[in-house]
Amino acid sequence: MGIHRGRRLRRTAGIRAMVAETHLSAAQLVAPLFVMEGHSTRTPIESMPGHYRLTPDLAAQEAADLAALGVGAVILFGIPNEKDSQGTGAWDEQGPVPRAIRQIKTAAPNLVVWADVCLCEYTDHGHCGVLGHHGVDNDATLPLLGRASVCYARAGADVIAPSDMMDGRVAAIRAALDESGFADRAIVSYAVKYASAFYGPFREAAGSTPKSGDRRGYQMDAPNVREAIREAKADVREGADVVMVKPGMPYLDVVRAVREAVDVPVAVYQVSGEYAMLHAAADRGWIDLNAAMWETSIALRRAGASILITYFARELATRLSSQAQREVAKV
Ligand code: PBG
Repeated sequence: MGIHRGRRLRRTAGIRAMVAETHLSAAQLVAPLFVMEGHSTRTPIESMPGHYRLTPDLAAQEAADLAALGVGAVILFGIPNEKDSQGTGAWDEQGPVPRAIRQIKTAAPNLVVWADVCLCEYTDHGHCGVLGHHGVDNDATLPLLGRASVCYARAGADVIAPSDMMDGRVAAIRAALDESGFADRAIVSYAVKYASAFYGPFREAAGSTPKSGDRRGYQMDAPNVREAIREAKADVREGADVVMVKPGMPYLDVVRAVREAVDVPVAVYQVSGEYAMLHAAADRGWIDLNAAMWETSIALRRAGASILITYFARELATRLSSQAQREVAKV
């Protein structure tokens, strides 16, 4: 018996491609878009190179470009001009998100449109739910999330994606959608969302940093993985069609555990801080951005996610649709 010659299957790019165990396709990618009020305007997001806050018309243009590249979906986050204690802007039919959904559906009818549902972008205190005597009031928040979800469904959203981490919100949103005639719209629940240092750039982009306190009372605690399985199973029982794990890279073990615990598709969100970190290191010449983008994305797929929400969606799709894919895969 000879020695194990693993290198035979690594010798050429063609052989490596032939034995690759994991694949990534543009249809599995979801591109986050930040939508603000106004017309024909975009403002750059400092900590997220290549990303902008877009008015609904420009968001529709961007969505059409992404669709042409084969990107599967966009997920929309709203940046309203006015905020209040109840987050009422979250269900304003004339708000930036419903406007953008309508325009995207015209510009790119086949693109899947996800609407993130949370109050933090719309509340003046920056928390994901309304405040009561003892912090964020879980049960008082549920009907408001239901109203926002119905508003986005009415505008044409295919997927409602609650990211607030209130208990029972999937059941509340499912009931609200069904009662309003939207039994056909899917819920992708941010079931397993950790309180994370990696959301910093997003909060800059959306202006949604809590004015006081933090989100540790509702988002998950980093040391826990069995709890992630409880959260995922609870959301599936409540009617989630897909469950999400977030962030991505620091939680690959959680993606794998959730994948094995439930039989609905699993999505993973490579969040703003992960994107910013890779860009910052690449800017200094310390890592190769394209290679790192590819490696982190395929790692999330390998861990068990079938859907990737990623700020690299456009770049990845561009490469996947061209010869460049092979160049990247060679690295
Ligand atoms: C809103 C929300 C956040 C993200 C997605 N939805 C911010 C937060 O919870 O503070 C983070 C996404 C990212 O960092 O890319 N609740």
